[in-house]
Amino acid sequence: MDKLVIEGGKPLSGTIVIQGAKNAALPILAASLLAEGTTTIDHVPELLDIDVMLNILRELGCRAEHSGGTVVLDTETAHTSHVPESLMRQMRSSIFLMGPLLARFGETQVYLPGGCAIGERKIDLHLEGLKALGAEIEEFGNRIICRADKLLGADIHLSFPSVGATENIMMAAALAEGRTTISNAAREPEIQDLQRFLNAMGAKIMGAGTDTITIDGVQSLTPCRYKVIPDRIVAGTIMVAAAATRGHVTLQNTQPAHLSSLIHVLRRAGVQIVVDGDIIKVGSAARPKAVERIVTSPYPAFPTDLQSQVMVLLTLADGVSVLKETIFEGRLKHVDELSRMGADIRVDMNAAFIRGVPRLYGATVEATDLRAGAALVIAGLAAQGKTVVEQIHHIDRGYEKIETMLSRLGARISRYSPVPNN
Ligand code: UD1
Repeated sequence: MDKLVIEGGKPLSGTIVIQGAKNAALPILAASLLAEGTTTIDHVPELLDIDVMLNILRELGCRAEHSGGTVVLDTETAHTSHVPESLMRQMRSSIFLMGPLLARFGETQVYLPGGCAIGERKIDLHLEGLKALGAEIEEFGNRIICRADKLLGADIHLSFPSVGATENIMMAAALAEGRTTISNAAREPEIQDLQRFLNAMGAKIMGAGTDTITIDGVQSLTPCRYKVIPDRIVAGTIMVAAAATRGHVTLQNTQPAHLSSLIHVLRRAGVQIVVDGDIIKVGSAARPKAVERIVTSPYPAFPTDLQSQVMVLLTLADGVSVLKETIFEGRLKHVDELSRMGADIRVDMNAAFIRGVPRLYGATVEATDLRAGAALVIAGLAAQGKTVVEQIHHIDRGYEKIETMLSRLGARISRYSPVPNN
C-alpha cells in the first residue's frame, strides 16, 4: 500500500487551480446513461472513484475515455442494467446508477454497497423515491432488483435531504411521464450542477438549490457537452491547510459562494480571507482562535466533508472549540490518529471537544476514510517533524495527486509505493 511521508512545519505558499468536483462528476457520469449517444464531460478529476464509475459504465457496455480532464462517454452500446457486485462494493455512490438505469432499461439489478467506514449509509430514501415513481423493488439479501414498465411523476417528500436520493430521483424522474416534485430536497451545489447537466440534455427541471425541485418528465434526452463545477471540498481542504501551516495561498477556479460556511468559520478563527471573483486568497500568520461551536448539517450549513480538516486547525487553536457531527455517526475516527500527534480532543457521543495545543508532532497515522485522510495530511503539514500517512488509497478516491498539488505549494511531501515482491 502506498503511503505519504511529510516533513512538517513549512507554511504553504503559492497559487493553485482547483480540480473539478468529484461529487458533481459522479452523478453526471451516471446521468449520461439517460441519453443514447456520445456525451463529453470536461473538468472531470482523475481519481479512483471516477475510475470505478467509468469501469462500471464500461461493464454495462458503454465506451469511455478519460484524458486531460475530459471524459468522452458513448452510451449507445450500453446493453445491460446489471451492475456487478464486485464493482458496486468499490464505491458507495454507485447506488445512484439505479435511477438512470431504471429510466433507460425499465429494470436494474444492483447490490448494496456494504458497510462504510464513516457509518451506516442507508438507501431507504432512494428506494422509497423510486417506488413512488412506480418502480417495484425486490431485495434478496444484498441484491436489489428494481423494475418499472413505466415511470410516472409523483410528489415525493424526503424525510431527510439526502444528496444521493435527491439525485437518484431527479435522474429517474427526468424520463418519467408527468411532473415529479421533490420536497425537502438536498440543496448542495452538486444537485444544481446535475440539474444544469440534465437540462443541457433536454430535461425540464427547476428548483435545484432550493428545497423543492420540480421535474417535468420528457420522452428522451440528447447527449451534450458539459463542464463540471470546481470541487468545493478540495478547495476547502487547501484553505484549511494554508491556515493550519500559517501560510498564504491563492486558489483559482473556485466558486466562493459554495464555501461560505467554511469562510465564515475560518474568519472566526482569525484567518484572513479575500474573495475576488473565482479567486480566494487565504492567509494566516498567527495562532488560530478557538471556534466555540461548529455543527455539520446539510448545505448551506457547515459540510460534514470538511469537518475532519477543520478539526486539525482547531487542535492548534488558542482555546477550546466544539465540533459536532450530525450527518454520519462514524465520522470522528480521525480523533484517535490526531491524538497520536499530540492533539487534545475528547469525544462525547457525536461531539468533539478540542483543547488547542501549541503544536502537533509528526507520527505514523492511518487514513480511515477519504476526508479523515486529508485531515491527517494537513496535520502532517502543520506538525513538527516527520509524519507518515498510511492507507492513502482512501485519499486517492477524492484528491487528484495530493502530493503533487501540495508540493507545488512548497510542502515537503512524497509518496512511497512498496516494491513488489517477485
Ligand atoms: C453525499 C456525498 C458525500 C457527503 C454526503 C453528505 C457524493 C458522491 N457523496 O453522500 O461526500 O459526505 O453527501 O453531504 O455526493 N441516508 C438515509 N437514507 C438514505 C440516504 C441517506 O438515512 O436513503 C442518511 C445517511 O445514512 C447519512 C445522511 O442521510 O446519515 C446523509 O446521506 P446523503 O446525503 O445521502 O449522502 P450521500 O449522497 O451518500
